Amino acid sequence: MNDNLHQLRCFGCGERISGSDALPNFRCAQCGDLFEVEYAGWSLRQGTNRPNPGALKWLWRERRCSSEALDHSGVWRFRELLPILDNYGNAVTLREGNTPLYPLPRAARALGIDQLLAKHQGMNPTGSFKDTGMTAALSVAKERGFEWVACASTGNTSAAMAAYAARAGLRSLVLIPDGKIAWGKLAQAMDYGAVTCQLKTDFDGCVKVLAESVRKEPIYLLNSVNPYRLEGQKTPAFEIAEALDWIVPDHLIVPGGNLANSSALGKGFREMRELGLVARLPRISVIQAKGANPLVRSFVENNGSTLAPVEAHTRASAIRIGNPASWRKAVKVIQETGGWCLDVSETEIAIAKAELGAEGLGCEPASAVTLAGLKKLRAEGKVSATDTVVLLLTGHTLKDADYTIEFHRGTLLKEEELDGNEAAVEALRHNALAVDATPEAVLAAMRGHTG
Ligand code: F0G
Repeated sequence: MNDNLHQLRCFGCGERISGSDALPNFRCAQCGDLFEVEYAGWSLRQGTNRPNPGALKWLWRERRCSSEALDHSGVWRFRELLPILDNYGNAVTLREGNTPLYPLPRAARALGIDQLLAKHQGMNPTGSFKDTGMTAALSVAKERGFEWVACASTGNTSAAMAAYAARAGLRSLVLIPDGKIAWGKLAQAMDYGAVTCQLKTDFDGCVKVLAESVRKEPIYLLNSVNPYRLEGQKTPAFEIAEALDWIVPDHLIVPGGNLANSSALGKGFREMRELGLVARLPRISVIQAKGANPLVRSFVENNGSTLAPVEAHTRASAIRIGNPASWRKAVKVIQETGGWCLDVSETEIAIAKAELGAEGLGCEPASAVTLAGLKKLRAEGKVSATDTVVLLLTGHTLKDADYTIEFHRGTLLKEEELDGNEAAVEALRHNALAVDATPEAVLAAMRGHTG
């Protein structure tokens, strides 16, 4: 691990420690808060370690034509901005990142926004944004000689961790809430060879059990309290800026669960501005599900100064989290960028997800909160017609096929949840039809749908 170029700084008390001195639970020994990776010299205008922005932009573009595996990674392509390894031979990569930034023409038209784009992190190797963080932190685990890695998860972190651990030849331990994660994600953890434990508790309960476990055995913790995860997860910010010719969008809209991803993206944009790669920050807004909205409540009740955990309930199982670890970091990002934090209902999530499906993209329910949130921000006048808006879609639609099938069958939402949205839901449903095996029946079915 490259301790010469980076150190860990406590987000709460500012204490600085070397990366190799971090406790197994990645909490500050002084105040218990989380750490952030800091690169000495970047903030000084004349700092000797300060990378040159023009040279970096050229180098990163050149790497797209390189034949090196590391350069094919949309994380390690930007390695000058995450110098956390001693030896890049230890990097474990599945060619993550370099995900598409798709225009959303139909949603843009419906909302009256000129430029609406979706950064689809579901197009990563294991189908979620977690791959970008996992390549970074798992490579650190490998470099530090750990045999076992572990995480508590709502499903995507465990899928990513199990895959990267398998590639690296490490063993992985997964703690998931019993019966509360999508099947696609569980299947991945099993297939990649993790020891998968389904605990009779929720995600927050799994986090507690794991925190105790890593104190007892040398297990490397890969939840997002691990600050190296965030170093990988900040790189989509670089990709977005690069794709827009280094002009940052006006808004970036991100789902909020454990609140590490919004924090990581904020860090990515902040560092780019500090280094002169971009001139300003986008407004970063975080959207939660109504039944799992501790950060929204925190903003309403005390402007983000304290957070009371909630018991979380939402069908968007990826963000069914009541006690988010990185909430303080997320508050800072929202406040410093001038973004907002709001919540959306189960029906709003289901409609937005079906609309993204109808654009030919699709995503998992937790990702669709971004479009549902944008509708509210637009209606409240917080997003204007000429703004460039990027939605961060975090997971692939196949992660949670049950949710999608139930929506189209009409069995997902209860009547009392529809609340005047019956027609909108009906218009988006495309249930599979039981049809006789004859051309006549098939063509009749087709005509029935054309009008
Ligand atoms: N979207 C998806 C698809 C997720 O899997 C998660 C988190 C989030 C959004 C929220 O991101 O936690 O950084 O605010 N999934 C974690 C997991 C908790 O275990 O897979 P966050």
